[in-house]
Amino acid sequence: MTENKNNKKKLNHIAIAVSDVVQASKIWRDNLGCIISEVHKLPEHGVKVIFVEFSNIKIELLEPIDKNSPISNFLEKNPKGGIHHICCEVKDISKVKKNFAKNKIRILGDGSPKTGAHGNPVIFLNPTDTHGTLIELEEVK
Ligand code: CO
Repeated sequence: MTENKNNKKKLNHIAIAVSDVVQASKIWRDNLGCIISEVHKLPEHGVKVIFVEFSNIKIELLEPIDKNSPISNFLEKNPKGGIHHICCEVKDISKVKKNFAKNKIRILGDGSPKTGAHGNPVIFLNPTDTHGTLIELEEVK
């Protein structure tokens, strides 16, 4: 396999669903010395978030703020919490969308990008078509 370092993609974050972001963040802060953020409320996404900062990636701890949150659904099925999705950076969502369409991988919702937690356009791939993992793609210029 030939490898071109410039072609390596970046993971932006791993999102973990939890019932209490403050309690969950202590695991990372108090035992591993990780830098954690304040609690951010993102009502348009139905979540509270604490970011755990690593030099190469972030972990996003997500707690639902109401019953309609997609994270509430996840916690009903996984009461102890767990990995919810991973996010890969892409330069051009509309370009990669064509690959997914060609390979019959569906995009959740109406297929058009939404504004994600960092203010960038994002799409989510249907986990049924990606071997069970919810994958977010974030357009980072
Ligand atoms: Co995300």
